[in-house]
Amino acid sequence: TPAIAATARIVARLKDLPGPLLPVLHEVQHELGCIPAEAVQTIAEALNLSRAEVHGVITFYPHFRGEPAARHTLEVCRAESCQAMGGEHLAAHARTALGCDFHASTADGNFTLEPVYCLGLCAQSPAVMIDGQPHARVTPDKLDRLLIRTLE
Ligand code: FES
Repeated sequence: TPAIAATARIVARLKDLPGPLLPVLHEVQHELGCIPAEAVQTIAEALNLSRAEVHGVITFYPHFRGEPAARHTLEVCRAESCQAMGGEHLAAHARTALGCDFHASTADGNFTLEPVYCLGLCAQSPAVMIDGQPHARVTPDKLDRLLIRTLE
């Protein structure tokens, strides 16, 4: 597949670096928009690692994704001040409303849900960011409205 071919090219170019795995993962995600399962296989074989090892590194770093990002991104602040102001409830609502977990996307490809750790809006917690735009004092109702508006 094209994804495997692209991954193989990247690995060939970077495999002699000391600690090649992270540079390879960054480059693959940069080129393919994500690190698909078939790329994991190719990377593991080429670097003499197990698939589990490669997968472990991908899941450890929130930056890496296994599927392409959706059209829109909802980031819910999960840092302390927001937690104290109902952020946990809001995070649960976001999961339910989108029907997906953090670091994942909705089935229709509309939203990717990500945690974020402080948006500098602690005085107006809880906060979220949609497509890079911050929103403060977000209730579950307000979040619903923001999500709908994003799709209009
Ligand atoms: Fe959420 Fe600072 S803790 S904005």
